[in-house]
Amino acid sequence: MPEITYAPIEARWATELAAIERAAFPTAGIQDLLEVADILALCKTFPGGGFVALDGDTPVGMGVGILIDFDFDDPHHSLDDLTGELSCGNHSDDSDWYYGVTIAVDPAYRRLGIGHQLYIRRKDVVRRLGKKGIVAGGVIPGYKDHIHAMSADEYVDKVRAGELYDPTLSFQIENGFEAICAIPDYMDDPAVGDNAVLIVWRNPDLA
Ligand SMILES: CC(C)(COP(=O)(O)OP(=O)(O)OC[C@H]1O[C@@H](n2cnc3c(N)ncnc32)[C@H](O)[C@@H]1OP(=O)(O)O)[C@@H](O)C(=O)NCCC(=O)NCCS
Repeated sequence: MPEITYAPIEARWATELAAIERAAFPTAGIQDLLEVADILALCKTFPGGGFVALDGDTPVGMGVGILIDFDFDDPHHSLDDLTGELSCGNHSDDSDWYYGVTIAVDPAYRRLGIGHQLYIRRKDVVRRLGKKGIVAGGVIPGYKDHIHAMSADEYVDKVRAGELYDPTLSFQIENGFEAICAIPDYMDDPAVGDNAVLIVWRNPDLA
């Protein structure tokens, strides 16, 4: 098992991280994925909010986000609308919620606990800054195998109930997230009918 270390995100890894992002979301439209310019902007905008997993000097995963205000009475949103220009234009240090822009692990390094470690570090940022929690549009890659059989909300219900396994949503639930509802038109991803799911982790310090 490789020895993985973790570090705050830095611009020097932007090219490798953009490649990991593309590999992590193979069915998504390129315009919705983090490119080098987005990663460089994120490094400047909220450097303390992003983390990279490293095998030696090689990046093998990342978890990045921004701080925004989120209206739970109007939860339907697209990734682009929420994050703004270069995937971070809507960041504000004063905002209440950490919005998960992406979490992506190199396919060759999955199921080793890297995603879990990235979440530990993101949750630590939220607790240190006294923010309300983490909110995100989570992808549901497993929905592609059920898209003709049920709605995205029905699929989310079944994953939440443990009747179906989703490689991403089941991992998010395992990491303390609540799956609220499907978000239609979240990002260009025809394999899942452009659906995602609203997921929330609440800062236990503020409970
Ligand atoms: C979702 C994702 C980030 C998870 O990353 P990861 O590093 O594989 O995550 P972990 O290793 O912490 O956990 C994944 C699973 O492996 C299991 N696992 C962790 N360590 C393990 C080990 N040593 N042996 C066996 N299983 C292990 C976990 O329990 C978890 O299982 P679960 O899905 O039943 O909850 C990764 O699959 C990915 O990049 N997916 C594509 C992009 C994506 O969907 N991103 C999320 C956007 S919302």
